Amino acid sequence: MKQFRITVPASSANMGPGFDSIGLALNRRLTLFVKEQGNWEIKNNSEFLSPVTNYEDNFIYQIAKQTAERHRKILPECKITVDSDIPLARGLGSSASAVMAGVELANQLCNLALTNEQKLQYGTDYEGHPDNVAPALFGGIVITAISNNEIEYVQIPAPGLDVVAYIPSVELKTETARRVLPDSLSRKSAAAASATSNLMLASLLTGNYRLAGTMMECDLFHEPYRAELIPNYQSIKREAKKAEAYGTVISGAGPTMISFIAKGLGERLAKYMSSKFPDYEVATLNIDQDGLQVDQQVHSIKSL
Ligand code: HSE
Repeated sequence: MKQFRITVPASSANMGPGFDSIGLALNRRLTLFVKEQGNWEIKNNSEFLSPVTNYEDNFIYQIAKQTAERHRKILPECKITVDSDIPLARGLGSSASAVMAGVELANQLCNLALTNEQKLQYGTDYEGHPDNVAPALFGGIVITAISNNEIEYVQIPAPGLDVVAYIPSVELKTETARRVLPDSLSRKSAAAASATSNLMLASLLTGNYRLAGTMMECDLFHEPYRAELIPNYQSIKREAKKAEAYGTVISGAGPTMISFIAKGLGERLAKYMSSKFPDYEVATLNIDQDGLQVDQQVHSIKSL
């Protein structure tokens, strides 16, 4: 009878102009404690997750079942206790972490021996784009592109940045935030948007964080269309800039916004922003370097 733990980080997609392509892992986690037994039992242990009345309705179970079926396997019955400090529908990758947890659950329970490339492909199939699932799987900052149906990716070293997130109490569903986007851009707009993204990434890689932040805030792919859906969009950017943030952008599809600032200055920025936006959870976060982890040595964990 197997027992193990799967843990997957939160993530923030886009970094401004890296729409559907760039994401970074953050140090909040979804954790599954899994123990094989003679029947199915799924229990949510987090304030962010609603109680499970029927295990078959559970999203992580459904992803794991589909993944097992891709390999003509049946999931063995088990007890799963789920813990999480990633808020739902806030743009912090809660869905991607659940997707990757489901893929890994099937991988472990059915001995699928999936490669990282397969995990990324499956996660992207379920999510629709790779920018959250890639950092959730690998950790760090990950740049992805889908080319000839293959997902290519590069994980770049997380630079000397602090990250501060402004998490409102309201939710915004990704599908709602994607509906406001245009289906196509003119050649002129597409060229300008891609130039902004290129320069943002080049600046990030060469440590020119000031320019990277400026380019983050010049996105033309999604932020101009989503701004009206995001509470305090302009004032959060303005106040964060006053407190020396390099750049402040919508985290994924929002409504959370996220600032990048020089290492060591995050706490000060968070304090300032908390005083300006008292209704928000202002969180100083780290870029998670570990990505998805599986631990087989969980005999002493009480949650089992
Ligand atoms: N790139 C995605 C978006 C991330 O901005 O819609 C959220 O799923």
